[in-house]
Amino acid sequence: MKHTKNMISTIYDTLNASDLDELEDIYKNWASDYEYDVIQLAGYVGHLITSDLLLNNLENSNARILDAGCGTGLVGEILFKNNFKNIEGIDFSEEMLSIANQKNIYKSLNLFDLTKKLAYSNNSFDAVICAGTFTCGHVGPESLEEMLRITKKGGFICFTVRKQEWEAAPYMKILDKLVNSYSLKKVVHNTSDYNIKEGVSCQLCLYQKTC
Ligand SMILES: C[S@@+](CC[C@H](N)C(=O)[O-])C[C@H]1O[C@@H](n2cnc3c(N)ncnc32)[C@H](O)[C@@H]1O
Repeated sequence: MKHTKNMISTIYDTLNASDLDELEDIYKNWASDYEYDVIQLAGYVGHLITSDLLLNNLENSNARILDAGCGTGLVGEILFKNNFKNIEGIDFSEEMLSIANQKNIYKSLNLFDLTKKLAYSNNSFDAVICAGTFTCGHVGPESLEEMLRITKKGGFICFTVRKQEWEAAPYMKILDKLVNSYSLKKVVHNTSDYNIKEGVSCQLCLYQKTC
């Protein structure tokens, strides 16, 4: 991943982490500045576009929602303000979770690695939302199947994929496979703003698990 003109250095470091230990270390040191850096400096809107999209498609405000890669809780804050309060968060960074915890919006926050099997039963959540986490050096398309396993029939998965990650990894191939195995229905899949000040777009996706 190249360092482009407007990319802030910590984002560059996270996208180029050589393994999950290095990535975890970067988030550990970045957690307290994360929100200022991504929103003010990079113009990040991943939390806004995913929350908006999910809120436009979820009817029941008691819906059980998993915020996967919840970080400091930017997504949870929006859902909570919109009266969706049955939210759980998972992330692999203790320091990011600790900031999310201070907001008192999540029913539970747990330390999980999204590249591993998740400790939830099949068909547990009405929606899984994952903003900013399918990106270079983070979580790849292989994790989509696990997110779908824990999504209820009729439930949604809503996520962003950073442009360069979308181009480098087989998202479309894996989604096509999942469309067959889970009768996944594409609700929205388009190109959207992502890190506006950095000039980077993403794929914004909402899929529904129909069986
Ligand atoms: C760019 S941040 C996005 C956070 C939040 N969703 C948002 O919109 O602000 C990416 C998050 O993914 C988490 N993360 C990266 N790799 C992970 C993994 N393998 N398992 C769980 N969380 C991971 C990081 O700790 C970080 O909080």
